[in-house]
Amino acid sequence: MNVCIIGTGYVGLVAAACLSEMGNDVTCIDVNKEIINRLNDGKIHIFEPGLESLVSRNAAEGRLTFSTDLAEGMQDALFIFSCVGTPSKTDGSCDLSYMDTVAEQIGQHLSDYKIIINKSTVPVGTADRVKAIIQKELDQRGVSVEFDVVSNPEFLKEGDAVNDFLKPDRVIVGTDNVRTAKLLETLYAPFARSRDKMIVMGVRSAEMTKYAANCMLATKISFMNEVANLCETVGADVKEVRAGIGSDRRIGYHFIYPGVGYGGSCFPKDVRALINTAREYGCMSNLVEAVDTVNNRQKRQIADKVIDYFSARGGVNGKTVAVWGLSFKANTDDMRESAALDIIQVLTDAGMKIRAYDPVASENGKKILADNSHVSIMDGQYDPLDGADALAVVTDWNQFRNPDFNRIKKMLVHPVIFDGRNLFSRTFMKDMGFSYISVGRQP
Ligand code: NAD
Ligand code: UGA
Repeated sequence: MNVCIIGTGYVGLVAAACLSEMGNDVTCIDVNKEIINRLNDGKIHIFEPGLESLVSRNAAEGRLTFSTDLAEGMQDALFIFSCVGTPSKTDGSCDLSYMDTVAEQIGQHLSDYKIIINKSTVPVGTADRVKAIIQKELDQRGVSVEFDVVSNPEFLKEGDAVNDFLKPDRVIVGTDNVRTAKLLETLYAPFARSRDKMIVMGVRSAEMTKYAANCMLATKISFMNEVANLCETVGADVKEVRAGIGSDRRIGYHFIYPGVGYGGSCFPKDVRALINTAREYGCMSNLVEAVDTVNNRQKRQIADKVIDYFSARGGVNGKTVAVWGLSFKANTDDMRESAALDIIQVLTDAGMKIRAYDPVASENGKKILADNSHVSIMDGQYDPLDGADALAVVTDWNQFRNPDFNRIKKMLVHPVIFDGRNLFSRTFMKDMGFSYISVGRQP
């Protein structure tokens, strides 16, 4: 089948690679010429395990092509996926300007029946909005062309995106048109092999499903962060509590790891967008608002612990903190809404210096933090520790789980580790002679 993907970022490129892997002819369109040039040179612009080899193999076999020319890309395609960004506006609502532009461009070039698929995360009503924009363009051109607009939200996680796309828990298709649903079932058949993985529903339900899923997961995390903070105060250990509640199948072990608060390009913005949708429709969103509030607090919590520690020991001014991890979670170079940014800001505002390391996000970090003269980004994992007063572990990269503690101890001025991800054993740290401050556990 012939597919056009508009927006070649984390979602668009993964979808394109996986759809071409199943034998479809896929053209990726992006407005960013640099991205398209790199892809045409066989290099991908994001870090996503397994993606580069999938992209280069399918490109070499001619099923996957890259272009900035939407008119050409959509010409032979039956399916047009819109995978552009939908960031937060300053008021927390979803910025649909990229989606609107894509809809206008599709309307300007549409000449035969096509299925336009909203894969980006977009508020309820966006499919109707896209339909109206395309129709307006067609009216202006004075042409009549049949088309459908479908909601098909994406549930992949960065760092495991290829796997998630190839083996999804479910594929949601929002459409009232039986013929369109059947065509999408055919396109997705290699991924959603068992029939019950394909869930066809109304367009607005599909749009809402995406926000409900992300907000439910964010709620689990904020709940657990609140429990963790309570554990610290009442003398409990959240690792034990997590094991205790996760064993109940109705609760489960997933997404109940406390930490530095959820980050990334999705949970924070989608939580804010749902709050905004509720407001727009005059509904309450007390629970989701609390999830957001708890997360904003949690994102600076480990920095507050660093400040408290040094304030009680002669002051924070001029102290240096080695930071391990800049990306919002392991296995990605994405720093969008990463807790590392909040933590670094709080610490440098307090007069501290930061020496940071990340296995893959260092280059992004150098760009994003270029204006903060109190931050240096180092190339080696142990480089930031040289003469630093403390180590703060912010991202849960595997290579941070079992480091050379003797080396760390020798390099640090104070043998203190602030662990925002609970990677280490408390008793082991005590035996090694570290002061160890983590999340939801006793120091
Ligand atoms: P991204 O920023 O990585 O990629 C978006 C791409 O769209 C960019 O490369 C940009 O240049 C391009 N673009 C913008 N306007 C364009 C236009 N008019 N024509 C062609 N290309 C254009 O975004 P992303 O992380 O892939 O997210 C895309 C959407 O998918 C968002 O709505 C997001 O919430 C949702 N989503 C993301 C993830 C994720 O893990 N990143 C997972 C599920 C859903
Ligand atoms: C999330 C969802 O998991 C995907 O299903 C969804 O498609 C995607 O958002 C999206 O809509 O874009 P992602 O943001 O890539 O995926 O990463 P997650 O693994 O969900 O982690 C999000 C944040 O929560 C990270 O900062 C992570 O460290 C944090 N987290 C996760 C916790 O603090 N505790 C946990 O138990 C799990």
